[in-house]
Amino acid sequence: MQEKLEGIKQEALAALENIDNKSALEAWQVKYLGRSSALMDVFKSFGTLSKEEKPVVGKAANLVKVALEAASGEKENLMNQQHINQALAGEKIDVTLPGRRKVSGGLHPTTQTLREIYRVFGDMGFQIYRSREIETDHYNFQMLNFPPFHPARDMQDTFFVKSEQDRGDDPLMLRTHTSPGQIHAMQEHTGLYPDNPPPIRIILPGMCYRYEQITARSEIQFNQVEGLAIGKEITFGDLKGTLSNFARRMFGQDAKTRFRASHFPFTEPSAEMDVGCFLCNGEGCSVCKGAGWLEILGCGMVHPTVLINGGFDPEVYSGFAFGMGPERITMMRHHIEDIRYFWSNDLRFLEQF
Ligand code: DAH
Repeated sequence: MQEKLEGIKQEALAALENIDNKSALEAWQVKYLGRSSALMDVFKSFGTLSKEEKPVVGKAANLVKVALEAASGEKENLMNQQHINQALAGEKIDVTLPGRRKVSGGLHPTTQTLREIYRVFGDMGFQIYRSREIETDHYNFQMLNFPPFHPARDMQDTFFVKSEQDRGDDPLMLRTHTSPGQIHAMQEHTGLYPDNPPPIRIILPGMCYRYEQITARSEIQFNQVEGLAIGKEITFGDLKGTLSNFARRMFGQDAKTRFRASHFPFTEPSAEMDVGCFLCNGEGCSVCKGAGWLEILGCGMVHPTVLINGGFDPEVYSGFAFGMGPERITMMRHHIEDIRYFWSNDLRFLEQF
């Protein structure tokens, strides 16, 4: 019996030598350690052995079993290690190859300007209020004191939007400016606080649309940033202080500003703010067209009619408003001569910012 066991062990170990893959190893385990292996037959034949033989054979058979199991475990480890070594050798990284630079995107120049504007007004306590792009004639014009046939409407011809029901003289349209957001914000505010509304400090950024001839200076789609401050005892001095401070923070501490009288139906008095040309320092150049000044925004004290339309009593409340074009500001800062670049998606343009 001892001899037979030794024979089984030798045969199994010899067979294991030649094995070099997982499935062969599994077959080997079935053949030499499985239920119908010669070794298991030895265990099964225990019943026929004498009392003296049993412990001797049992011990010897167990030793063979343990030895075969250990050998098979070792083989498995060895094969795993070989597999890893092969993979490491085959997949070596060639560190001498130059790396490939990842293409990283960037923010559109208008977005960069918008974010700077948000930051400056954010520091001054203004929140961002977003308003709809599809407006009614009522909000886009009427509530802002542009009655039907008012000549100022001619400057803002727009795209009308088809609506399901006939809206008569209050058609839907793409907003021509961000100013109607002023009315929405005021009405929402006075709706929330009907008795004693706290002050409003907001900027209203967003896309506007006009039915225009597209040229180097005008697009049918552009951004505006509107501003609105309402409270008690707000004066034109507050308007000038806020906007001059904005200009200094946006264009540099030395930026000069000037206010020129102007007209908007929704402000009274109204003005336009110019900034001293930062390219020529007021000497006159191609960007400022020799004027030494660049027009940056329109502004004024909120018209009493507009305050009433927003739910404020003009005897108690006053406020100022302003509106600017971030594309125009971007054009001035970067000396961009054609507004059409902003929408042409030309990487040669966009990658410069
Ligand atoms: N809504 C005006 C426009 O699009 C810009 C503007 C001017 C806005 C004066 C204002 C303002 O709030 O006070 O031409």
